[in-house]
Amino acid sequence: MTEMETLRAEELQDAQSKAVGLFREIEDVAILRRKLGLPLRDIVGRALCLPFYLPAKRWAITLVFAALVSAQPAPEQPLPYSHKLHAGSLQLKCKLCHVNADPGDVMGFPSLATCMTCHSSIAAKKPSIQKLAAAARSGQEIAWVRVYRTPPFVWFSHRSHLEAGSKCENCHGPVAEREKMNREGDISMVGCMTCHQSKKVSTDCSFCHERP
Ligand code: HEC
Ligand code: HEC
Ligand code: HEC
Ligand code: HEC
Ligand code: HEC
Repeated sequence: MTEMETLRAEELQDAQSKAVGLFREIEDVAILRRKLGLPLRDIVGRALCLPFYLPAKRWAITLVFAALVSAQPAPEQPLPYSHKLHAGSLQLKCKLCHVNADPGDVMGFPSLATCMTCHSSIAAKKPSIQKLAAAARSGQEIAWVRVYRTPPFVWFSHRSHLEAGSKCENCHGPVAEREKMNREGDISMVGCMTCHQSKKVSTDCSFCHERP
């Protein structure tokens, strides 16, 4: 290890032991856990919360670490659908397919009728489009594999974020440049908190966790 690395490691250890000390005094997690009846994976839960008790420099280290841990490969989807082609080259608007139906919490996935407005003729002989057309005829939906999902004890609404000026790219990365979707945007608790802090929006535990 170089001197720099030793210093960093020491700093990180020091920060962790301080934070763990602090944690014993903070009952939030325990209370929340009881309220929600979470099968709490203690270590993950604590690791997620650690940054909020650390000074700025250590924040940075923790965030880099969290980013490394959260990077995941793109799942295999039932059809080779590409945002790069449809939202990039063809410049279709996101809301053509993700309609954000009332009450606005979810963006949702497109109905096959939307796809078929073009694909009843475009590329109709390609095997992937024949599969699409067959599903549309039989009234089935395509079982897209979810990429972004928050646990049920988290309150999140797309509409209130869009109305407050957040862009898709803030949370999902440069979608229109991607052939396949992977979870490159950060929707971990750290990701939520980072933006809330910078925009001076509440970071109270109950803001995102205790809702009817
Ligand atoms: C022509 C229809 C269409 C358009 C236009 C479109 N999408 Fe999609 N989107 C889909 C389909 C189909 C999926 C599911 C397959 C996949 O994940 O690639 C999807 C999946 C996604 C997902 C992953 C959701 C999850 O949790 O699995 C995100 C995020 C997303 N789209 C964002 C966008 C954004 C941002 C735009 C505009 C830049 C956009 N989409 C434009 C059809 C579309
Ligand atoms: C505005 C018209 C339009 C809409 C709407 C549209 N597509 Fe496409 N799609 C295209 C075009 C154009 C191509 C390129 C065709 C080619 O390469 O010959 C394409 C190509 C594809 C391909 C690749 C075909 C292949 O095997 O090469 C798939 C899969 C696909 N689209 C799925 C979808 C799905 C799923 C939806 C609905 C969520 C959708 N498309 C909506 C125009 C559209
Ligand atoms: C402030 C962050 C944020 C912004 C901005 C945002 N999303 Fe999301 N998105 C999320 C989160 C968090 C989830 C997971 C939600 C869940 O599991 O309930 C998600 C899930 C999705 C899904 C999966 C289906 C669903 O609705 O749950 C799609 C599709 C999607 N987003 C598309 C978009 C598009 C298109 C935009 C821009 C118009 C957008 N998102 C803007 C955070 C965001
Ligand atoms: C890109 C910045 C950004 C990110 C990322 C973000 N938020 Fe927000 N959030 C905001 C802003 C700005 C508001 C204020 C909206 C208003 O005043 O109406 C807000 C408001 C909220 C609200 C209150 C409004 C409502 O819908 O009841 C909740 C709850 C919330 N955010 C949860 C989350 C969660 C959970 C995540 C992570 C999955 C998240 N936010 C990620 C910017 C962000
Ligand atoms: C801005 C929104 C937001 C706020 C404020 C917030 N959280 Fe979270 N929290 C989340 C999200 C999103 C997740 C889910 C993370 C994931 O899926 O990786 C989460 C997950 C958790 C978990 C579960 C971890 C696990 O192992 O699954 C615990 C415990 C938790 N939060 C505690 C807290 C405490 C304590 C506070 C107050 C200091 C707090 N949260 C404030 C958004 C928030």
